Amino acid sequence: MSSHPTPGGPGLSMKPVSIASAVPGLTAVATRPDAGPPAADPDDIRLAVASMKVRAAEMRRALHAVEEILATVDSTADTAGGGPGAGSGGGSGGAPGGEPAGGFTGGVHATAMRSVPRWHFAMLNDYERNDAFAVALERKVRPGSHVLDIGSGTGLLAMMAVQAGAGRVTTCEADPVLAEIACRVVEQHGLSDVITVLPRMSTDLRVGVDLPPADLIVSEIVDCGLIGEGILPTIRHARTHLLARGGTLLPERGRLVGALVDSAVIAGLNRVSTAGGFDVRLLNGLSTRGHFPVRLRTWPHRLLSEPTELVRFDFARDPLTDGERAVSIPVAKDGVAYALVSWFELELAGGIVLRNSPDNFSSHWMQAYAPFDEPIELLAGGSFEMCLRWQDERISVRPGNLLEKAEVA
Ligand SMILES: C[S@@+](CC[C@H](N)C(=O)[O-])C[C@H]1O[C@@H](n2cnc3c(N)ncnc32)[C@H](O)[C@@H]1O
Repeated sequence: MSSHPTPGGPGLSMKPVSIASAVPGLTAVATRPDAGPPAADPDDIRLAVASMKVRAAEMRRALHAVEEILATVDSTADTAGGGPGAGSGGGSGGAPGGEPAGGFTGGVHATAMRSVPRWHFAMLNDYERNDAFAVALERKVRPGSHVLDIGSGTGLLAMMAVQAGAGRVTTCEADPVLAEIACRVVEQHGLSDVITVLPRMSTDLRVGVDLPPADLIVSEIVDCGLIGEGILPTIRHARTHLLARGGTLLPERGRLVGALVDSAVIAGLNRVSTAGGFDVRLLNGLSTRGHFPVRLRTWPHRLLSEPTELVRFDFARDPLTDGERAVSIPVAKDGVAYALVSWFELELAGGIVLRNSPDNFSSHWMQAYAPFDEPIELLAGGSFEMCLRWQDERISVRPGNLLEKAEVA
């Protein structure tokens, strides 16, 4: 096998693939199976080193926060005997309405804040969402049954499940800070004997070890583009490994609807050419691939098509594996298509549907904007053929016909 010199000075022997994985969004240098690893670009190496420095700084901050927690635990143990609940949080055992994170000191508070995305606040203030789940749970929970809530957040759905009649609820949360908050909220409501909070990914749970099989699995792990929080792989695993025979799921089905959008302004949220007369297009190497949230009504835009169904999932029956499909969208207006903008319709149970369409101003979910690589000029009356691809948590679109691609191949 021929070996390529590695630019960047002696001692540097990074393979291009590690650089690409160290810098999200950086295009990996193409490899030929017969040629060994190609030379890495020195610019890419510098970018990789810079992004590793950012990671290292994050880890230093986390380490500092851990030291702060340990110091607090030690001093509390010295002064108060270090009983259960002492130390990390403060504010424990207060009445509902207290602020559980209020007792965190500087670095710990900052680290806890960084771990919890800001959208949790808007989500919990979305009454339409909360009410829809409460009613759906009323309809689905059988009295005395065991409910698994995947993704506790603050423990809201777990507590609603108890309210709806569940005899036992297990709830799991991937983020340890949120799991801690959920534990305390559940405790504050006097529900710790019915609800068990596990600070774990659902995919790490074992029936018979961590929990009994669930009669109902409830989850609200959808982003603006339906699949971006991992509902497909999560449900695929949960329905096979954690659900009791004859058990059911909530939500039951979801579908994505989308339209072609013309807006140079929205496109500018993720692409740039010049700034102050200087060419800064290099930044585009780090633009978001796949979809990202946009509040459509807040930006000037024109929809060039009617909303069209893109894909639908039956969470109980469909394979929920990666896939792609050809979608043909009739073009209603002349214009330049920069992206596909989409939203979901989520069928919880018994006809209760949540949607984040652009006209639903009360939803905290924005719309999902999936940019095309290049803007495309369209004429009314034609149809726009594209390939929609979903890969675990990411939706992407590619103009062109799947069948044409298959014929060429
Ligand atoms: C959108 S929030 C919903 C929180 C809460 N269920 C509610 O409705 O208020 C989803 C939460 O699920 C967690 N999560 C996502 N996938 C998970 C998984 N497979 N296992 C455990 N937690 C998960 C995230 O960390 C996040 O806190």
